[in-house]
Amino acid sequence: PTELTGLVLDNLREVPDFPEPGVLFRDITPLLANGEAFSTFITGLAEHYRGHIDAVAGLESRGFILAAPLAYTLGIGMLTVRKGGKLPGPVLGVDYDLEYGSARMELRPETVQEGQRVLVIDDVLATGGTAAASIDLLERSGAQVVAVCMLLELAGLGGREQLPGRQVDSVVVYP
Ligand code: PRP
Ligand code: HPA
Repeated sequence: PTELTGLVLDNLREVPDFPEPGVLFRDITPLLANGEAFSTFITGLAEHYRGHIDAVAGLESRGFILAAPLAYTLGIGMLTVRKGGKLPGPVLGVDYDLEYGSARMELRPETVQEGQRVLVIDDVLATGGTAAASIDLLERSGAQVVAVCMLLELAGLGGREQLPGRQVDSVVVYP
């Protein structure tokens, strides 16, 4: 979806020293707040993936903001991959390492249909841990993850290397 790169770049805000000193945070709230840009963005993604996917999996929480309108536009289901402890069971879960500490993602396998072609979507690919854990959950539940769509990829953090063999469609890539 590189035809959407300019639209996203025009509606991003770069915030130095957030959430801690030395980090340059790319804030997507201007894109969401611009109704025309957000609508053009979701419509563009929908046209890119139409006919190739059967469901959209959003990664909590900012991934939900993108997954829900995309699934709705395509008339297909949305799967919610959530942070640990949020979903009622039965759930599958994966613990994974963060730079400092650990995190957990969970999925209700009953929401997945066997062989379903799933697009994973999130706002940012950083170290790739969240996406890799989520793909693992989806595939253990019977899904076929056909692509991963990221609004922003922070390539310097090596996320793509955590997703070997995957189609990773990043709208904006930072070095
Ligand atoms: C951010 C982002 C991705 C994840 C990427 O989520 O939205 O989900 O981190 O990081 P990784 O590639 O290093 O795993 P965050 O945990 O900040 O949660 P939020 O969406 O609820 O703000
Ligand atoms: N923007 C938004 N989310 C993030 C970022 C960023 O630059 N880095 C890690 N998560």
